[in-house]
Amino acid sequence: MTKRQDNYNTIAKTLHWLIALLVISLIPLGWYMSGLSNEDPWYYRAFDLHQTLGMAVLVLFFVKIAWMLISPNPKLAGNLARWEYWGAHIAHGLLTGSLAVVPALGYLSTTTQGDPVVIYELLEIPSLVELSEDATDLLIALHMYFAYGMAAIVIIHILAVARHHYIKKDDTFKRMRIWY
Ligand code: HEM
Repeated sequence: MTKRQDNYNTIAKTLHWLIALLVISLIPLGWYMSGLSNEDPWYYRAFDLHQTLGMAVLVLFFVKIAWMLISPNPKLAGNLARWEYWGAHIAHGLLTGSLAVVPALGYLSTTTQGDPVVIYELLEIPSLVELSEDATDLLIALHMYFAYGMAAIVIIHILAVARHHYIKKDDTFKRMRIWY
């Protein structure tokens, strides 16, 4: 493990923005897809894309954890009150955990009836456990609740960063920017 740095490095920033882009696309895509009938051809197009981007988030979660172990994140920026410090740590922990839990629930709810996850006929990820229809329905519901819970934390996270940038005028947002 290397020494904690003062700033996010390029790999940490790239992972942050790539994951953010995927998650922010997946939430409306999932919402749109779940409103379509199973007979609608757009349902399958949206589902293929949703599975592909969602499984990419799961892979990137492991890359992110590995990178955080190799190169720990810097301490939080700015002058923080106790509630801000703990609020930020709790929100970051919940967001990081959701990067594993939400796609894992998506994968399970798709595969527990024996079907694999198919990534554009290029890659097939097999079913690992088979469960009853009731258990599968529960997984689908859990995927939905956790995904919308994650969406709520993403909104809080964006509002908190905007507050740091525009009201407290500290370096919180500047440190994560790739552009200048
Ligand atoms: C970070 C990753 C993911 C996010 C943020 C996400 C988000 C969502 C959202 C918001 C919904 C709509 C829920 C509803 O209103 O009913 C949804 C539905 C769904 N997602 Fe995901 N998802 C992710 C990953 C995955 C993965 C990896 C899979 C499968 C491999 C998956 C499979 C599904 C399925 C089967 C549905 C239900 C579709 C239906 O109602 O017909 N998701 N997802």
